[in-house]
Amino acid sequence: MKLTFTFYLALVFLVFCGCKSNKNNKYDTFTIAPKSILLSPKVESIFKSMTLDEKIGQLNLVRSGASVKTGEIVSSNIREKIASGSVGGMFGTQGVELLRQTQEMAVNSSRLGIPLIFGLDVIHGYKTTFPIPLALSCTWDMKLIEQVARNSANEATSDGLMWTFSPMVDIARDPRWGRIAEGGGEDPFLGSAIARAMVNGYQGSNLSNDNTMIACVKHFANYGASEGGRDYATVDMSKLRALNEYFPPYKAAIDAGVGSVMTSFNVLDYVPASANTYLYNDILRDQWKFNGLVVTDYTAINEMVNHGIGDLKEVSKRAINANVDMDMVGEGFLNTLKKSVDEGTVTIEQIDKACRRILKAKEMLGLFDDPYKYFNNNPKKELLSPKNRQLARASVAASMVLLKNDKSVLPLSKSTKIALVGPLADSRRNMIGCWSVAGDHDAPITVLEGFENQLSKGSFTYAKGCNITDNGKLAERINAFGKEVNIDSRTPKEMIAEAMENGANADVIVAVMGEAADMTGEASSMAHIGLQPSQIKLLKALKTLNKPIVLVLFNGRPMTLVWEAENLDAILDVWFGGTESGNAVVDVLIGNVNPSGKLTTSFPVSVGQIPVYHSMLNTGRPNDKSQKKFKSNYLDIPNEPLFPFGFGLSYTTFRYSDMQLSRPTLSSNQDLIVSVLVTNTGNQKGKEVVQMYIRDVIASISRPMKELKGFQKIEIEAKESKRIEFIIDEPLLKFYNSKLEYKSEVGKFEVMIGTNSVDVQTLKFKLK
Ligand code: NOJ
Repeated sequence: MKLTFTFYLALVFLVFCGCKSNKNNKYDTFTIAPKSILLSPKVESIFKSMTLDEKIGQLNLVRSGASVKTGEIVSSNIREKIASGSVGGMFGTQGVELLRQTQEMAVNSSRLGIPLIFGLDVIHGYKTTFPIPLALSCTWDMKLIEQVARNSANEATSDGLMWTFSPMVDIARDPRWGRIAEGGGEDPFLGSAIARAMVNGYQGSNLSNDNTMIACVKHFANYGASEGGRDYATVDMSKLRALNEYFPPYKAAIDAGVGSVMTSFNVLDYVPASANTYLYNDILRDQWKFNGLVVTDYTAINEMVNHGIGDLKEVSKRAINANVDMDMVGEGFLNTLKKSVDEGTVTIEQIDKACRRILKAKEMLGLFDDPYKYFNNNPKKELLSPKNRQLARASVAASMVLLKNDKSVLPLSKSTKIALVGPLADSRRNMIGCWSVAGDHDAPITVLEGFENQLSKGSFTYAKGCNITDNGKLAERINAFGKEVNIDSRTPKEMIAEAMENGANADVIVAVMGEAADMTGEASSMAHIGLQPSQIKLLKALKTLNKPIVLVLFNGRPMTLVWEAENLDAILDVWFGGTESGNAVVDVLIGNVNPSGKLTTSFPVSVGQIPVYHSMLNTGRPNDKSQKKFKSNYLDIPNEPLFPFGFGLSYTTFRYSDMQLSRPTLSSNQDLIVSVLVTNTGNQKGKEVVQMYIRDVIASISRPMKELKGFQKIEIEAKESKRIEFIIDEPLLKFYNSKLEYKSEVGKFEVMIGTNSVDVQTLKFKLK
């Protein structure tokens, strides 16, 4: 009996969490999925007593609370629905007491007393806000990213939450798309590492602990490739591109044991994701063996009516038959599935499967043992705690990317007289960045406050100088969630004059500029991704003063910065840092922290270059930079991005030398070690992200000119060297071929190591 129970527990653990084993720097992981979903005897007996209505009720996810609603439809009569067993979970509500009362309603007033699952978009922190995900990805520091997810989970669970709709791992190569801010950039290898780190951080080692929460990888699939960068728009992509370049981060999250998956809004192969049987039956359930919970995005089932594939009953039927389990807000399942069962287009078994997956998630969280277990923590101890703020400050500093630093204008000496200008220098509302439902908007430290905290009073002046934009209509749209763009009562001329006067009396000008927080994020696509004209005008005026100008940039997307890169002396990209932004900006400006972030998205020269990314295929007429006719290039701009993937400067310098291969030829049972000597040639300690790229020179299909296949973030003392090694083995060289087989192919390869995706050294090897 004891043995059977232990066996059962082990099986349950394996089924839900998947198994992990590490080899070198890779994770070989898998998820075991039996045909049926095993429930504990207690939950099984509850399941057996459920009516069809109650089962369908479990598939219903309602939204309640004051948090941002991301669609037109809202949930109604929630209390009555909970009492009648028509709700499986709720999201959007914060606060232990409110959640406890709602749970009491479910436990005490519904027939079977099945507890609810409570979720929220904990995207980059809870009350303490960490850098936006795109910023965090620029740390290339998986330990830090996992820790950020862990601390976010500590805060959110202390406040009663148990399910987060994160991580978003959609590969994004179009900076017009506002949601590029929410992901880890353009690369699948890095994106996969981030997916694992975040899932591990949120879910911890044991989901039944009261400080761990179920993660939700989203948006499956390929949401980041929407046409023209328009949100919710069509995605059309070859299967090979999806398998080789867009799917890996979702798969990595599954292999790391993620408990839930969210559908995407887009169509793929002309079928909306929430009804896409290729995505959900063939790939997710059959090939990847995922047996956790699939939730739709907000009203994504209802939206399939607009996609033109049927009425609400038809689209709901298609979603459940595609193995989608939970319907977010739209109530298509609640209102139509019973009819579909009567008509024989949906089987009871299909509804059973979905219901069992939802019960399984609740069981894994321990809710059937104690529905109130998440409400016994002490939020006061966790929310905005010094420990969380300290991690926030370190993570903002680690996210910053130094894009330019002519004549070492940075770091600034404390005796320098600084003119601090720009519309984001004193703008608390914008520091958090997009998509922070719970973030405390009063908590962030502004850059001006960072100056006040760390510099002496007489050493700087402040003037706003310009508005984020002078375009009132645009400002109105951006301000949908609060006043982020504040158009000053003064004229632009008056504001510029004040900034010019301060600039004239200073040694250096620090201009804090960029985007308002909600110029990126959901429904925030932009066709112009440069600084707004109001800001350029100020910079051009300041330039006439002939003083060094440092641009401190707040942004949620790669921007077009050609004029700025040519005319300004330094550019420090902060992204959006969250609660501790201002302190961390000053940490870096005065050199208390040496910047070490590297770009995870290429910065285009102009919008006309999009998409531009490092892992492109070659063409039959390769670009040779001549910009001549009959080459794959533009006549008016270069093909190369302004700042490439992997790029980022430091206050010190690194030299790469003596690259070596342990053998010239690799066979399938061997490892090949490639190494390089990295020397810190400057005068201070610094961190460097050493990057390894591989090119499969000849294969059965055209392969990228380089693909990231390894990276290490290291720290080196001044004047010291470290030999950095990467292991290459045959599995690392696999890809999906035209027959959709995942295989390596023998032949010639190139391996490149460097400080970014362009400045690399190359050696050749063969796979036999
Ligand atoms: C819509 C967004 O696409 C999704 O990412 C989010 O989790 C849901 N709204 C819930 O807020």
